[in-house]
Amino acid sequence: MRIVSVVGARPQFVKLAPIHKAAIAAGVEHVIVHTGQHYDPMLSDVFFEDLKIGAPDVHLGVGSGSHGVQTGAMLAALDGVFDEHRPDWVLVYGDTNSTVAAALSAVKMHIPVAHLEAGLRSFNRRMPEEHNRVMTDHAADLLLAPTQVAVNHLAQEGLAERTVLVGDVMTDVLLQIRSEVAGSASILTDDLRLEPDGFYVATIHRAENTDDPMRLAEITAGLAALDKPVVLLAHPRVVAKAAMHGIDLTQGSLIAHPPLKYRDLIAAVLLSSGVVTDSGGLQKEAFLLRVPCTTVRTETEWVETVQLGWNVLAQTASELGQAVSRPRPPETDQTPYGDGAAASRVIAALAERAA
Ligand code: UD1
Repeated sequence: MRIVSVVGARPQFVKLAPIHKAAIAAGVEHVIVHTGQHYDPMLSDVFFEDLKIGAPDVHLGVGSGSHGVQTGAMLAALDGVFDEHRPDWVLVYGDTNSTVAAALSAVKMHIPVAHLEAGLRSFNRRMPEEHNRVMTDHAADLLLAPTQVAVNHLAQEGLAERTVLVGDVMTDVLLQIRSEVAGSASILTDDLRLEPDGFYVATIHRAENTDDPMRLAEITAGLAALDKPVVLLAHPRVVAKAAMHGIDLTQGSLIAHPPLKYRDLIAAVLLSSGVVTDSGGLQKEAFLLRVPCTTVRTETEWVETVQLGWNVLAQTASELGQAVSRPRPPETDQTPYGDGAAASRVIAALAERAA
């Protein structure tokens, strides 16, 4: 069996790591295509090195652009790649422009497509990720759902027959890295001389939080007013937008810091008092590490984190302050994101259905 994985953005490189490992273990030929959506070394190369994935087999070098320009460039380039490799499966990950481009290209070439992280829904039709994930689920032949909630969404959309519950592959990586970094120092506590449990880790990068200057100013003011130092691991998008609108990312409690490698991020979160984020992955990682999370969004796809009390949604600066200072939630032994063996289930599901 030959699988072509198409990835392009930081969280997809994390999910690629356990899939690549499971593919090799199963003797499957695995071709990795990087669209080039993320190209900064700290958003891309370090993940391939740190998570021991090796270099991508194909790099499209598409780079940034408006949604149409970026997605269109990927579509145009992927036709030739799929034609050359003629895989049994094209595997697409999550909800990015790279995902929808690869799904569309493959389906038009009559190559079976599997969608990893299928069935997540925010029901917010203004999010580019929501367009991408809905269209990809309806185009794909096999829907690999991470949670029971995702399975239910797919059933409601008439997609139950194509759906398999495999668990969440990000949990596979997280559990492994957690055991490797547990008890170690963090680059943040070392570099910034912060005390364990004496700081928060923050990330903000989504279009709806960065592109409107009023919104970005509200969020930075909320972070700056928190009671402990807040290390903002600044995605290039937030750095660019803050500079454009004259918003200071180092004010009050706020300290801007470049993004971290995956294992450095996990070590930092483990030592922190809490996480404030608009990232999907980090909400779940905080839950799995049992670090309280505050999510700067109006909704979340990872509803289990909220239901279990480990994640609270906040919009305004004052909501943010209240959410971050809430008491620690009750402990839980629930495992809504699976057992850390999702990747081998993905490879088995693909092998069973390969023509
Ligand atoms: C993308 C995904 C988002 C995911 C995120 C993970 C889409 C629609 N969005 O958002 O779902 O959560 O990745 O980080 O696919 N930029 C750089 N260097 C880079 C990459 C981006 O400077 O390596 C800057 C550029 O100004 C670019 C902007 O960030 O225009 C946005 O990048 P883009 O890849 O379009 O979306 P993300 O915000 O990263």
